[in-house]
Amino acid sequence: MKQIAVIGSGTMGNGIAHVFAQFNYQVSLVDINQAALDKALQTISKNLDRQVAKGTLTEEHKNATLLNINTYTSIKEGVQHADLIIEAATENVDLKLKIFKDLDEHAPANAILASNTSSISITQIAAVTNRGDKVIGMHFMNPVPVMKLVEVIRGYATSDETTATIMSLSQSLEKVPVEVNDYPGFVANRILMPMINEAIYTLYEGVAGVYEIDTVMKLGMAHPMGPLQLADFIGLDVCLAILKVLHDGFGNPKYAPCPLLVNMVAAGKKGAKTGEGFYKYTAGSKDLVVSDKFKKS
Ligand code: CAA
Repeated sequence: MKQIAVIGSGTMGNGIAHVFAQFNYQVSLVDINQAALDKALQTISKNLDRQVAKGTLTEEHKNATLLNINTYTSIKEGVQHADLIIEAATENVDLKLKIFKDLDEHAPANAILASNTSSISITQIAAVTNRGDKVIGMHFMNPVPVMKLVEVIRGYATSDETTATIMSLSQSLEKVPVEVNDYPGFVANRILMPMINEAIYTLYEGVAGVYEIDTVMKLGMAHPMGPLQLADFIGLDVCLAILKVLHDGFGNPKYAPCPLLVNMVAAGKKGAKTGEGFYKYTAGSKDLVVSDKFKKS
């Protein structure tokens, strides 16, 4: 495995491209427009600078990493020589199914097709291709250059060979891969999202405020971020979409999204990326400021 194509250059896609390029794989980063790709390269460069500033990467290694990345606006061109393609597009089933049909058509016959999906069924994605044994989930965590985990998801038809290849490839990136089966939310989000949803219910029912809930979990359980801050970081729309997958997939009311989460997403308050969720975000500031909506009078 030498040639990796990454489809989608948003937060997860650029993080995945960053890590593969840093470990000397040739990366083709694909998105629908050049402006998105240019922005992704700037983000990768900025994140590599953090590693240089910290002394974990040299300036030469940073430059070599950037040279390992080429950008494409066409899937056909971007994947034609790839050994592995990782899809990291928006969490939308129809979009992913379309992308995988295209990948199956244009990628080399022996290439592995992986999805970074956080909860969409790998089995369903694999079913639109003619290579179900070579389709797998490769779920990285945000921020990709920092987080050690890769959740490796076996679809119904994924072969042992494909799984073994992806497990050892993840280790070559100095990540820790964990193999799981393809059921709603896999493992990461089956456990994380109910915790976040319960934190939102705790706020909604007036048990405690945003600061108090997050402080209990940060200082009491040593979580790096409280669940409400983490929800803002992931994106409240993404949290809602994953909870819906759990709710629909298991038919169990315990996964029903809190009405407050539903309202916030409908109001466009989707967390850090929109400037407001449970907290307010100002570009360039690391201060954690509770949103006016949740300030105590
Ligand atoms: N690229 C490279 N380095 C990065 C980075 C990036 N994108 N983002 C942060 N860093 C580095 C920083 O340089 C810093 O390095 P040092 O501490 O060694 O100097 C380190 O990471 C910590 O960053 P900061 O000092 O900026 O901030 P922090 O200490 O508050 O940590 C955090 C930030 C790493 C994000 C931390 O708060 C954290 O671990 N939060 C929880 C993240 C988490 O749970 N992620 C999983 C989300 S769920 C998901 O992704 C999957 C899903 O399906 C929803």
